[in-house]
Amino acid sequence: MKTIREPHLMQRQADDLRLGGKRIALVPTMGALHGGHAALIREARTRGDAVVVTLFVNPAQFGEGEDYGRYPRDIDGDVRLASGAGGDILFAPETAAMYPPGYRTFVNVEKLSLPLEGAVRPGHFRGVATVVTKLLNITKPHCALFGQKDAQQVVVLRRMVRDLDFGVEIVVVPTVREEDGLAMSSRNAYLTPAERGEAPALYRSLRMAEELVRAGERSAGAVIAAITREITGRSSAAIDYVSVADAESLEPLSTLSPGASVLVSLAARFGTTRLIDNIHITL
Ligand code: PAF
Repeated sequence: MKTIREPHLMQRQADDLRLGGKRIALVPTMGALHGGHAALIREARTRGDAVVVTLFVNPAQFGEGEDYGRYPRDIDGDVRLASGAGGDILFAPETAAMYPPGYRTFVNVEKLSLPLEGAVRPGHFRGVATVVTKLLNITKPHCALFGQKDAQQVVVLRRMVRDLDFGVEIVVVPTVREEDGLAMSSRNAYLTPAERGEAPALYRSLRMAEELVRAGERSAGAVIAAITREITGRSSAAIDYVSVADAESLEPLSTLSPGASVLVSLAARFGTTRLIDNIHITL
């Protein structure tokens, strides 16, 4: 697997690939790769002639007091996983190459960036939209793949590529889970053994919510209350939010109507570790 560190060299490589008629599939990551990233890279392999994996811990999407400084970094392990899953090129720029002195330009996807994660992490999606714009301009892909675990990120980025005419296909890959249901995440590495034992409560609560809805529950409030009870009754987690929203507009729903496309999402803290998860229900 070839590693490229300079944006202009990556751009030149992308131009060469495109001139040679190759289809570029992009998997943007912040490193600390796990099975969820491997699934994205494997899917990218089926969609592109050249699979570019980017590895950049983007300071612009972390707020003050968040885990930017301690975000897990393991470039050797990342190269092994990415090449084993079918990656061809690793683009791993330095921060100064992405945000040189005098950097002033940010991309903001209005409204969709504000609720849920955006409410707890102000400025997060401005950072995500900005870095993904830069990564798309640098790697010039035909398609870019993202995990369903970051459901709001997918909604924000889909809107962004439509609104700004990027001409890139956004491909969403289902969440990959540990055997006990915990969604794979680089942040799972922060959990203590006791917290790791409790963390599957998140997905359990979402599955229980889906069963309630499939059994006829139509009140979003009742679904939220059931999820909250399951998590707080069976773990020490502190809940940031539980939401039942329209899957595209992210507007909160009060009633689940026939035909609705519903995103049930949550964020909770186990000690200092913040985890998110979601399920998508189509009625
Ligand atoms: O999902 C992530 O890992 C990040 O938000 C992304 C898309 C790589 C942007 O930094």
